[in-house]
This record gives sequence, C-alpha cells and structure tokens, in this order.
Amino acid sequence: MRAVVYRGPHEVEVTEVPDARIQEPTDAVVRITTTNICGSDLHMYEGRTSVEEGKVLGHENMGVVEEVGPAVTRIKVGDRVSVPFNIACGTCRNCLQGWTSYCTRTNPTEGMDGAAYGYANMGPYDGGQAEYLRVPFADVNLLELPPGTEHENDFTMLSDIFPTGWHGTVLAGLQPGDDVAVHGAGPVGLMAAHSALIRGAARVFVVDKEPDRLALAEKIGAVSVDLSAGDPVEQVLDATQGRGTDCGVEAVGYQAHDPSGEEHPELVLDNLVKTVRSTGGIGVVGVYVPQDPGAQDEGAREGRVGFDYGTFFTKGQHMGTGQAPVMRYNRQLRDLIVAGRATPSFIVSHELGLDEAVRGYDQFDKRVDGWTKVLLHPGQPT
Ligand SMILES: NC(=O)c1ccc[n+]([C@@H]2O[C@H](COP(=O)([O-])OP(=O)(O)OC[C@H]3O[C@@H](n4cnc5c(N)ncnc54)[C@H](O)[C@@H]3O)[C@@H](O)[C@H]2O)c1
Ligand SMILES: [Zn+2]
Ligand SMILES: [Zn+2]
Repeated sequence: MRAVVYRGPHEVEVTEVPDARIQEPTDAVVRITTTNICGSDLHMYEGRTSVEEGKVLGHENMGVVEEVGPAVTRIKVGDRVSVPFNIACGTCRNCLQGWTSYCTRTNPTEGMDGAAYGYANMGPYDGGQAEYLRVPFADVNLLELPPGTEHENDFTMLSDIFPTGWHGTVLAGLQPGDDVAVHGAGPVGLMAAHSALIRGAARVFVVDKEPDRLALAEKIGAVSVDLSAGDPVEQVLDATQGRGTDCGVEAVGYQAHDPSGEEHPELVLDNLVKTVRSTGGIGVVGVYVPQDPGAQDEGAREGRVGFDYGTFFTKGQHMGTGQAPVMRYNRQLRDLIVAGRATPSFIVSHELGLDEAVRGYDQFDKRVDGWTKVLLHPGQPT
C-alpha cells in the first residue's frame, strides 16, 4: 500500500510499504478515507523529535472498516469510523478512569504511558497517512459514524484536534459567561475557540500573528489579537479593563516564538500567567517535550522551560496539561456535528490526494498564507 514515510528533517516521501494487517485477534484494519496533517506532525517533520526514519506518519484518521480480527465483536466490516489518535487498551487503571491518552499497556517504551499512531515515542504503531491502518483493541478505540460521506470534513476533526481544543477549555476550567484567551490560532487553537463559544464563553480572544488564521477566528465570533501589532499581554489586559481573562488555553507548544521567529519556549506560558486573572485556570494542550535536542539553550534541550512560576503561584492559578483523552469527548462532539451545532470543518483549507502529501507538509510547515488545515484523501486520484 502507499503511505507517507518520514525520511529526515523536512523530508517525507510517499512510497510503497507493507500492507496494514491484522496482528492480534482484537485488531481491525481501516481503509482510510481522510487523514489530516497536524501541527504535531510538524515537530517531527522539522527534526525536533527522535522519530525514526521510515515511520509511517499520521494520527488523525478516519475511514471504513475493511477487516476485523476474530475477537472483535462490536465493530463490523463496513462501519464508518473515526480513529482517536490515542491507542488505548480500555482496561488499565488510566483507561478506566477516562485517561485513555495515558494507557499504561499500549506503549512499550520504558517510562512512557500513552500510545499513538505514527508518532515519536508513542509506541511502534504505524500512522494512517496511508491507504490502510491497523487499529489495536478495535472495539475500544473506534467510534462509529453515520454511514455515507456526509460531514466527512467535520468528522475528520474528531480523531484529535476538536477533542483536543475542547479538552483545553476543560483543563482551563471554562464556565459559561467567562472571558477566555486562546494563544495560538493554528488548528488546535481555532478548535479551542470553537469549543469555548459552544460551551458558553462570553468573549474568546485568539492570539497569533498569522492574518489568515486570525481572520478565521473572527469569522466564528472570536476577537483576534495580533501579536505582531503589539504586546499581546497589553492588548488582552486593555480589552478586559486590566482584570485579565477568567482562564486561558495554550495551543502553541514548545516551539513558541516571537514575531521575528526566535523561539522562546516559556513565552506563551508567561503571557498566560500575566493575563489570566488570579485563581484562574490555564489549559496547556500545546506540546512540550522532555528532550528537545534542537533547542537553542541547554535547559530547553532537557525539557526545562523557565516560565514565571512565582507569579503563577502568587496569583493562585492552576494548570492542566497533556495529551487529550479523545474518547472522553468524541461521541458528544460527533453528535454536536450531526445536530448542526458544531462545524469544525471551517478550518479546512486544502484537500489533497495522498501523493500530494510532500507539498502539503512543505506548505503547512511554512505556514504559507491560506494553508490552515490540510486533509489527505488516500482514495482520491491526484
Ligand atoms: N495535547 C494534545 O493532545 C495535542 C493534540 C494535537 C496537537 N497538539 C499540539 O498543539 C499545538 C498546536 O497545534 P496546531 O496543529 O494548531 O499547530 P500549528 O503549529 O499549526 O499552530 C501553532 C500556532 O501558534 C502560533 N504561535 C507561535 N508562537 C506564538 C506565540 N508566541 N503566541 C501566540 N501564537 C503563537 C503560530 O503562528 C501558529 O499559528 C502543537 O504543539 C501540537 O503538537 C497537542
Ligand atoms: Zn494531531
Ligand atoms: Zn489502557
């Protein structure tokens, strides 16, 4: 089958790889209809992880079940499904408590809980930027979707970024009537803004410097804050009469940078500590890593990020972090889509065939104007 394979920094290749196949009785194989390129893939693409050469990438997957193992009873061949990026066993302590993003059984890497498809340090699983994907513990992991092709570009956000954005607002403790600041207007930040509005936020500020992404934030009813036009801290404080917002979401991650492009991994955390009111919550869904060999300073190379913990403590703020447990939210978000109350497809800018993935990675990585979210359709001729 054809698949997108990591070759080295800034290099992916679409090539033939062995077919995905049933390896355990609890597996299914899904024929991929849509698979997205994610900001998380870019950390690997830019050579800022330890992902191995030859890995099939892709953790935002959906499709139709092609084959099931003999122990799969709930999921049937022909079901249209969303595949959460987390690979969960469904029976370990963390899974049973709803933390499927920290499954203790599916990642064999020493000291690591939580597994994912096609991702650095998240276990030996191939990704779904391919014609087919092997899904372990299929009865646990797969979410059924209405048959057919309706809402494809909305449902494809259920595997990761819509639940991740939603989780960011939950970690932040967002309540109806709150003001919230979302830092980062990439796909995850825009999903957090969409979620915050659905969850009843009064005002949603979205901070970034990319005009096309800020325009999308405005389009859904958020207030854009252009950090290239002035200090975003001052802009948020001015808009809130100096009080700050009730809570905030970090949707940027460890490659946060200033308008000139220079990286400061602590920058967004500091900005949130300054602009969230005392006792407010901060939900960090942007990724931070324990080893970053490509970082500019020694501390950051070991995952040490020196944000303003003193002010964070003094203001009595709280913070939630980590990979999102997609299964905690994906059923409900599917039903919001079906009911017409959520339309996460508003971020989709490009739909490409699998063979165009090289161009998709290049343009999305450069944040070329208008390249907000790239979907790949393996079945579609290019
Ligand atoms: N926790 C999870 O489960 C989870 C899931 C998916 C993605 N992620 C992570 O979320 C982050 C965002 O993903 P994405 O797909 O939106 O990526 P992206 O890289 O497309 O978006 C990041 C945005 O942040 C902006 N940015 C950079 N520095 C900034 C700053 N100082 N202030 C404000 N904005 C700034 C960039 O201009 C860009 O638009 C990544 O770190 C990704 O790995 C986490
Ligand atoms: Zn993702
Ligand atoms: Zn588990």
